[in-house]
Amino acid sequence: MIYPIVMYGDAVLRKKAKDIDNGKDILVLVNDMYETMHAAHGIGLAAPQIGKSIRLFVVDGTTLEDEPTLKDFKKTFVNPVILNEDGEPWAFEEGCLSIPNIREEVERPEKLRIKYFDENWNPFEEEYDGMKARIIQHEYDHIEGKLFIDYLSPLKKRMLKGKLNDISKGDVDTEYRILAPLRK
Ligand code: NI
Repeated sequence: MIYPIVMYGDAVLRKKAKDIDNGKDILVLVNDMYETMHAAHGIGLAAPQIGKSIRLFVVDGTTLEDEPTLKDFKKTFVNPVILNEDGEPWAFEEGCLSIPNIREEVERPEKLRIKYFDENWNPFEEEYDGMKARIIQHEYDHIEGKLFIDYLSPLKKRMLKGKLNDISKGDVDTEYRILAPLRK
């Protein structure tokens, strides 16, 4: 099932999401999240973006031909905890399915260590760097109630205010179904 994607301005994107009970059957939900993400041509999707305030996100960079480092990067992160981040911060232009048609440079630390479960409740603890780390950081922010635009300067944020308002009203072009909080 493909869910509509929740747009900027919805309170669910600002909540700190809750852990999922260990052992709960989430296979259908995880499958739906992959389906929703692929339909929107995203490389990451967090549960709050489909209206569920739970600590779960999926990533899939395997279809990005210009990012060979991501060719095996398809993973489900359940109840993840970033244990530490380090390395030289680097900037990259990010986008978000909940903030369509806006891309801005965000600086993030190069490396991280994360523990998480997969969709079958197998535990992992791994290190990531570069683009994989960035995708994880962006999605992890979602379950913490944070968005990439939070990192922008006050000036940049002011400049985007009109566009963000339009997004909240559903006044934005997307190839996927959206749920806009201020749509009349
Ligand atoms: Ni996002």
